[in-house]
Amino acid sequence: MLAIVQPPPLPDRPPLLAVRSLGKSVPGPRRLFRGLDLDVAAGELVAIIGESGVGKSTLLNILAGLDDADEGSVAIDGVVLGRLDETARTRLRRERIGFVFQAFHILPYLTLAQNVALPLALISPDADAAAGRAQAMLDAVGLGGRGNDYARDLSGGELQRVAIARALVHRPALILADEPTGNLDPETAERVLALFAAAVRENGAAGVMVTHSAASASIADRVLTLGSDGLIDRNGG
Ligand SMILES: Nc1ncnc2c1ncn2[C@@H]1O[C@H](COP(=O)(O)OP(=O)(O)OP(=O)(O)O)[C@@H](O)[C@H]1O
Ligand SMILES: [Mg+2]
Repeated sequence: MLAIVQPPPLPDRPPLLAVRSLGKSVPGPRRLFRGLDLDVAAGELVAIIGESGVGKSTLLNILAGLDDADEGSVAIDGVVLGRLDETARTRLRRERIGFVFQAFHILPYLTLAQNVALPLALISPDADAAAGRAQAMLDAVGLGGRGNDYARDLSGGELQRVAIARALVHRPALILADEPTGNLDPETAERVLALFAAAVRENGAAGVMVTHSAASASIADRVLTLGSDGLIDRNGG
């Protein structure tokens, strides 16, 4: 594994993602985690591992403002999600966050090109630019010749790659990915992981990736384990 030396975050700039004392319970009543802290700098990719059911997907949903924590705060580039109304939150999510969902959420009755262009279409009136960028993203995930196919006809691994292309198309500041290589063969997985790493490091985004795969974790700058007391860095870093 390559040791990648990251420059320390600039002292006068908050980390791109700053999570403080986050706590979440689910009906039951059952507490998933409490006291969860996480800083992710611009250009840094963090992997999160943990047992099934521990709350990894729930945590990503909270980071994206799709679910609410019971306590604590999430700030993206200094903007605290809990202080935004629903409209402002939706806007921040559209413009600044890219999310690869565990269940993809690709729209079956749109073509691949339309699915991938969607985030750009929502924030910019330039349809040609959106289509061009969507094509470049489909090329990058190896589906360049399939833009006019309908998503309903795709295999699981193909859908996953469309989801990745869609999450990165608008160059988001915060990239959240839930098991992004779970359905991919090792070669394709390696290719999309490289794309993730490039999106984070070249665009200065903050990346948080949930994964069970050692190959995926190995490209991350840090690997954290989620448990009931929050995130633990087993390397002590
Ligand atoms: N709205 C909800 N109501 C009740 N229980 C919920 C709700 N949301 C999540 N849970 C429960 O919280 C736990 C954590 O779910 P989550 O999907 O975050 O786990 P995970 O760590 O992503 O698991 P996996 O690795 O299997 O994807 C699960 O037991 C789930 O059933
Ligand atoms: Mg999950």
